[in-house]
Amino acid sequence: MGWNTWNKYGCNINEDLIRETADIMVEHGYLAAGYEYLNLDDCWQSNERDENGTIIVDSEAFPSGIKALADYVHSRGLKFGIYSSAGRETCAGRMASLGYEKQDAVTYAEWGVDYLKYDNCNWGENDGPAHVRFQAMKDAIEKTGRDMFYSICSWGAENTWDWASQMGQSFRTHDDIYNDWSSIVQIMAVHTKLTDFGGPGHWADPDMLEIGNGRLNYYESKAQMSLWAAMKAPLILGNTLAEMPKELYDIATNPEIIAVNQDPLGIPARRIHGSGAYTDIWAGPLVNDSLVVVMVNWDDAPGGMVIDVSKPWSVGYQGPNVTATELWSGQVTNGTTIDVFLASHEAKVFKFTGGTFNHSKLPMEQWSIIDNTDEKVYPAASLSNSVHGLARRRGLKKAIGDAYVIALGNVNPPETGALTFHQVKGRGIYAMIITYRDCFSWDPCGNKFSRRWNLRVTVNDGEPTWISLRSSHHWLGQQRNRYTMGIVLTEGENNDIHFDNPDGFAPSIEGITLRRLRDLPEVVVAGNGDDDHPTAFILSPMESGDPLAPQGALPELGRLIVDYTWEWVIFALLIIFGVWLVRIIRDRRRRQRKDLEYILLTTS
Ligand code: GAL
Repeated sequence: MGWNTWNKYGCNINEDLIRETADIMVEHGYLAAGYEYLNLDDCWQSNERDENGTIIVDSEAFPSGIKALADYVHSRGLKFGIYSSAGRETCAGRMASLGYEKQDAVTYAEWGVDYLKYDNCNWGENDGPAHVRFQAMKDAIEKTGRDMFYSICSWGAENTWDWASQMGQSFRTHDDIYNDWSSIVQIMAVHTKLTDFGGPGHWADPDMLEIGNGRLNYYESKAQMSLWAAMKAPLILGNTLAEMPKELYDIATNPEIIAVNQDPLGIPARRIHGSGAYTDIWAGPLVNDSLVVVMVNWDDAPGGMVIDVSKPWSVGYQGPNVTATELWSGQVTNGTTIDVFLASHEAKVFKFTGGTFNHSKLPMEQWSIIDNTDEKVYPAASLSNSVHGLARRRGLKKAIGDAYVIALGNVNPPETGALTFHQVKGRGIYAMIITYRDCFSWDPCGNKFSRRWNLRVTVNDGEPTWISLRSSHHWLGQQRNRYTMGIVLTEGENNDIHFDNPDGFAPSIEGITLRRLRDLPEVVVAGNGDDDHPTAFILSPMESGDPLAPQGALPELGRLIVDYTWEWVIFALLIIFGVWLVRIIRDRRRRQRKDLEYILLTTS
């Protein structure tokens, strides 16, 4: 728990602000409530290093230097955090740490830094994958012998959860939060699937709190605090603390809610009901056999529902003396059933006590009884997993020839996605349906203008085939898209199905479905297509689902028409409306003029 400069101040930071904030954290009770880290984000650095390679601080903003500042922060009983990036420059273009990890870690240790937020901006293709760049800093910190909280800020890229949950004390699962309820909705849609990756000492981080920054209303502030607390997310404020309105201050410092966040078990609550559209129910075990249940209303209208936590679809929480305390209001209900009414965007937090449930058996499977048909998208799995392995794990193992869907993950450079198809029955042509969405599941990638990104598909060492997939991130809402291409598979194992984009980001592939189109005669050389049938090829426009996916098919003009269909329609409607309006105004004026002429005529 702590405070960070970025959300409110961006690069407009200086040592006076930090000292004042330190004072306020202590004097206004934030430290007492648990907010103990005071963290500098981007822009404390200059753009340079000295002749020894030591980072030079922005001396205009921090004339007394960082050590003096850290000493002051410590003297107030707080801990001190700092920021850098696993690249050549930070995201704001200041000097970052790639190649200087050891030196920077030593500097931080000398300054007395307790927390490092390490970002992922401005690295080059040859600098290695994120897990390598972030590991370098982790090793460097460890070598200093100083205890530093290592906060990994790679926004969910390169399947952050797969590697960062074993590397950092926290790891970001999403792009930056922004100061609006819609940002919380977007983040939660992704974070929901990743809560299980977090736990004690490796907290999944949906980004900082926006409470007190002027856009979240009372209920929305309560909802962010409730969800973040129950998900065991880091609670990092980022507003002007001195100006926090009393009702929001009470939300941010509510001891009961903070106790849920700091619960010694450290098990993140997970969604057990809902789909992020109307009312969600989240639940998670707390110490002493108690249970936290959060209900949140995403809808713009008030709503509610009755839940009974003793029911097996719920969490099976039972006992003769169960009581539920709503932690924001203190209201107590007896029994396992609660009837909840929620204002739009409100959340309530119930702590159930007096009962038992076997939470040793609950992690993963049992907790994932999700009454949500849209929830077939699993957390992106490591791309090196084979389809076979994944399919088996999901209980979806079937011989090829039948279709099945497997969750993959982001295909980001410099990593590639590799798959194996097992048990293929005889050489044949298959329709390979690629289900994809945004490259980080939250943001469009590739070329934003053309709304496309490129994917190179190589099957069994054949000629690579490039496709250019349409962005699914559309103003109409996030959609999952499909594209179908043809591939040739051979009898038995097909070990080498590759997806990558060496030139940039590729889309997030969520599933691959195979459908056998027709048999081909066996060829002696296994694993290859032939002259008529390259191993990967483009199907007809009708079959593929996107006539413009083959690169270079209809170039820019065609794409402008196809990719912007909705914009064209709206543009045309606006023009029609404009013309109609002009005509109405013109007719009215004409009529008025005529009336005037008539009056003048009759009166003269
Ligand atoms: C972003 C990061 C933000 C903030 C910013 C600073 O990459 O996600 O939280 O640190 O950089 O430039």
